[in-house]
Amino acid sequence: MAAPVLTAMVDHLQLEASIGGYESAAARADQVREFYAETAALINCAPENIAFAGSATHAFSTALSAIPFEAGDVILTTRNDFISNQIAFLSLSKRFGVRVVHAPDAPEGGVDVAAMAALMREHRPRLVAATHIPTNSGLVQPVAEIGRHCRELDLLYLVDACQSVGQYPVDVAEIGCDLLTATCRKFLRGPRGSGFLYVSDRVLRAGYEPLFIDMYGARWVSPDRYQPVETAARFEDWEFPYAIVLGCAAAARYARQVGMDAIARRTPALAAVLRDRLADLPGIRVLDHGRHLGALVTFAIDGWQPEPFKAAMDARRINSALSFRHFAQFDFGDKDIDWCLRLSPHYYNTEEEVDHVVEAVADLSHTRQA
Ligand SMILES: Cc1ncc(COP(=O)(O)O)c(C=O)c1O
Repeated sequence: MAAPVLTAMVDHLQLEASIGGYESAAARADQVREFYAETAALINCAPENIAFAGSATHAFSTALSAIPFEAGDVILTTRNDFISNQIAFLSLSKRFGVRVVHAPDAPEGGVDVAAMAALMREHRPRLVAATHIPTNSGLVQPVAEIGRHCRELDLLYLVDACQSVGQYPVDVAEIGCDLLTATCRKFLRGPRGSGFLYVSDRVLRAGYEPLFIDMYGARWVSPDRYQPVETAARFEDWEFPYAIVLGCAAAARYARQVGMDAIARRTPALAAVLRDRLADLPGIRVLDHGRHLGALVTFAIDGWQPEPFKAAMDARRINSALSFRHFAQFDFGDKDIDWCLRLSPHYYNTEEEVDHVVEAVADLSHTRQA
């Protein structure tokens, strides 16, 4: 977490403790508004198109809840969409009889956009959904190419940009999406328990609203009628973790001050060095495939079980994450692996830290699990 993020949150908690929650929210109303302005500037939209959410997953399910699915409707997605998104599609399938269609991958990895476009024409899906960078590999999906087909065919398009916001400049106009979800806690270096939903003017004008719209998203105008608000606030909850929202504003501001272009040059480049060097080690299989690769480096190692291997990395003060087969049924099935370790270098990591990681993995690959 960047220092200004922590300061913004601690300051607000102290204010809440001294003058009260409602009073603090009123006192900091201008700074809270900056969350919308900063986040909108980050992804090239207006502040009115941004809704705060308690997580990217919450933003995603709130967006899905706004689509009046009927039996037989098709959701067209990819083989690399995020685990919770795939589970949500299956849940919609179980409850409403929605059909989930997965576009095939291209031989070099990543979705085959021409095949996906052909499926759009064949099925006229109620929703097209794609994850920009999946959790399970460094693949960067061509979301803007997919978006061009969606715009041409006027299809509703939802993008999960959880791993790309803060890593690359993400431009909703260029992507051509109707809805986009992200978290603040990953490459943006914001707090946990936060995320946001971008809602396009098209979607707002068409009257989409979340199924469980609350007293913040709607006005109760007569005993039997409510009126959704005009902006993306329609997708928000009345109760807000204000300290977190202020932390997110600070994170977005900080990323823009560092410069998204500079971040996008440094972060994937550092990851590419790490990936190439790991690939040279015996007993290591790097698992990232695709035309474009970002700053998630995933690999399998011979002779280790997942938890002991991660514990050995932890003991060397190297932060990492495990992914398992059930996180990525298609991708890990294709790669024939049950688990992998993920490393996500950020722009503030150094070349020396990359050396340290490579040495640690080399050392562990010799040692093998006891
Ligand atoms: C691609 C992707 N989407 C969504 C999420 C979920 O984000 P959150 O934890 O904020 O719900 C993750 C988290 O790892 C992710 O990698």
